Amino acid sequence: MSDKRILSKKTTLRGEIDVPGDKSISHRAVMFGALAEGKTTIEHFLTGEDCLSTISCFKKMGVDIQLDGDTVTVNGKGINGLEEPSDILDVGNSGTTTRLMLGILAGRPFHTCIIGDESIAKRPMDRVTIPLKMMGAYIDGRHEGRFTPISTRGGKLKGIEYHSPVASAQVKSAILLAGLQADGTTSVTEPHKSRDHTERMLQKFGVKVVEDGNTVRIEGGQKLKGQHVYVPGDISSAAFFLVAGAITPNSEITLTNVGINPTRTGILEVLQRMGAEIEIIEKSNEAEPIADIIVKTSELKATQIDGELIPRLIDEIPIIALLATQAKGTTVIKDAAELKVKETNRIDTVVRELRKLGANIEATDDGMIIHGDTQLTGGVTVSSHGDHRIGMMLAIASLICEHSIELEGYEAISVSYPSFFDHLNKLVTSQ
Ligand code: S3P
Repeated sequence: MSDKRILSKKTTLRGEIDVPGDKSISHRAVMFGALAEGKTTIEHFLTGEDCLSTISCFKKMGVDIQLDGDTVTVNGKGINGLEEPSDILDVGNSGTTTRLMLGILAGRPFHTCIIGDESIAKRPMDRVTIPLKMMGAYIDGRHEGRFTPISTRGGKLKGIEYHSPVASAQVKSAILLAGLQADGTTSVTEPHKSRDHTERMLQKFGVKVVEDGNTVRIEGGQKLKGQHVYVPGDISSAAFFLVAGAITPNSEITLTNVGINPTRTGILEVLQRMGAEIEIIEKSNEAEPIADIIVKTSELKATQIDGELIPRLIDEIPIIALLATQAKGTTVIKDAAELKVKETNRIDTVVRELRKLGANIEATDDGMIIHGDTQLTGGVTVSSHGDHRIGMMLAIASLICEHSIELEGYEAISVSYPSFFDHLNKLVTSQ
């Protein structure tokens, strides 16, 4: 049975939040540390369930990984140091673990069996298994290899030139990680540029990666060397408090050390376009740029969100939908059919749950239309449907609902933001 929480309206949010580490970067730091020769230390690692799944899978392949608070030490023995696991690899709820690990396993000369939770079992894996098989990997799974459970036996790989039908960093990364183990050159071209953390971090670990517009190329046979990685705060987690600050009366919130990689900052552009009062104070720009961001209660206006912006804010669409309920005019989100294959079908779950709260929102084939601004009423039970970002969006919605709400399945939030409610309480009480 899923847990429930009663959440109610707040009149002010004030204070500072150190946003937990970026989920995408935390996964990659563990994986690349495991493939590298020598020691990798990871600071400000996200200890959410998804990233713990990545650690557990690589430990099962014989990699020595130690977690101490939010610091991780990985003692890598090189890519050939990975060993055949004697147990299944359980990815839990994590699509990133599944797809990036498939790229690594495509070239490893041993057998594995990958399983995950109910949500993972519904997510399409053929977007990576098809190109990986073209490279020479032996991969099979349920429904002709489309879904987990999936088994792999790595093959001798050859480079390919792949044109991905979707802008997906998970697809791009899986192919590049297989390309590292392939003969010759591998390239991936995407319709729009997706997040580039893999490209940046591979270069930090000593691998040459060539970027040319929406195409990325890698030569096989390159080696990774252990590094120190500082993980910036996750802008996708910060997004919930950016919106909370903009829509809750009398609020001012500072979010510190947030990653502002341009392939992830669509949310900041949308907030600015909608008239939100935000200030971005840039701090450092090493492998990944970082800033403090201040947000204040704002008068908001509607906007249109589509095209190349979509991959740059794909995970933020549930919270942007809530933001749009508080903006004057009609906000249209399109070109976002990818939402249907996230942890839940996020077009359905966002529209269904926000309607229960009194929002004027409709689903379309590739997005949603939101008419604002609306006073959300609440006074109902809503559900995360087991999706961490739907759970957090609904918890933020409760801040402005007339009546309290009951949130079912709030425990899903620990997938990406275990300290979410502590941070929310801190903003409520530190006035
Ligand atoms: C991720 C890429 C995105 C994103 C996911 C994390 C990554 O998925 O939605 O939360 O770490 O590469 P897609 O590659 O499927 O777009």
